[in-house]
Amino acid sequence: MIEILIYKCCSISNKFLMTAQQKKINAAQLVIKKIKPGMSIGLGTGSTANEFIHILGKDKNLSQSLKCTSSSNQTIEIAKNYSIECLELDQFDYLDITIDGADEIDKNGDMIKGGGGALLREKMLAKISKEYFIIIDDSKSVKTLGNFPLPIEIIPFSPKSTISQIDKVFKKYQMVSQIEIRVDASGSNFITDGGNFIVDCYCKKILHSKELNPEIENIPSVITTGLFLNMSSSVIIGYDQYATEFNFDR
Ligand code: 5RP
Repeated sequence: MIEILIYKCCSISNKFLMTAQQKKINAAQLVIKKIKPGMSIGLGTGSTANEFIHILGKDKNLSQSLKCTSSSNQTIEIAKNYSIECLELDQFDYLDITIDGADEIDKNGDMIKGGGGALLREKMLAKISKEYFIIIDDSKSVKTLGNFPLPIEIIPFSPKSTISQIDKVFKKYQMVSQIEIRVDASGSNFITDGGNFIVDCYCKKILHSKELNPEIENIPSVITTGLFLNMSSSVIIGYDQYATEFNFDR
C-alpha cells in the first residue's frame, strides 16, 4: 500500500516536472528563431537558459558560426558540452542578443533575477545587448514583483552592516523584509563567480522599485540587485503546448 502511494506521488511530481520542462523547451524553441548565423550572443544562466543552449548546441552549423559569451561559469561548462566556446566579455563592444531566464516578471517586463546567483554577470551582458530576450515558463509571470526573494550581491566584508543599510532603505519605502545571507548545500556562505556574497530579501511585495533600486545600489558595499528594470526587449512565455512573445520598446 505504501509502495503504491509513493509510486503515485512520484508519477504526479514527475509529470509536473516534465510539464514545467516542456514549457521551458517551448519558449527556447521560439527564441532560437531569433538567432542568425554570425551573431554575437550572450548566454544566460539557469534551467530555462540551459534548454536554449541544448537546442542551439544541436544545430552545429548555427552554433559554430556564433560568437558567444556567458553569464556564469556553470553556463560555460554546459556550452562546452556542445563545443560552444564562451569568449571573455571584454572581447565584445556589444552583443546582438542575450537570452536569459528570470525568477519573476511583471507585465512591464520588469524582473527579479539572480535565483541562480549569476545576477551581476547577467546584468553586465544585458547592458551591452542590443536585444535582451527573456524566456520563462508561465509560472514566472506575476502581477507584482516580490514573492520571490530579491537577491542582492554584496561584498563579503562586514555583511551585517550592509544588511542593516539595505533594511533601512526597505523601511523608508514602508516595506517589511527579512534579509538572509544565502548559504550553499553545505551550509557555508554561497560565493558568486565574482567572489561575493548574496543576500536574499523576503519582501512579499516590492513597492516603488524604480526609486528603491538606485538607493540600494548606492550603498557602497552593494554590488548590484536582482531587480532588472526596463531592460528586457522581449519576453517569451512557454505554456504546455506553445509559447507567446511580448515585445517592449526600450
Ligand atoms: C540566475 C537567474 C536565472 O535566470 C533565474 O534564476 C531563472 O532560472 P530558471 O530558469 O532555472 O528558473 O537569474 O541567476
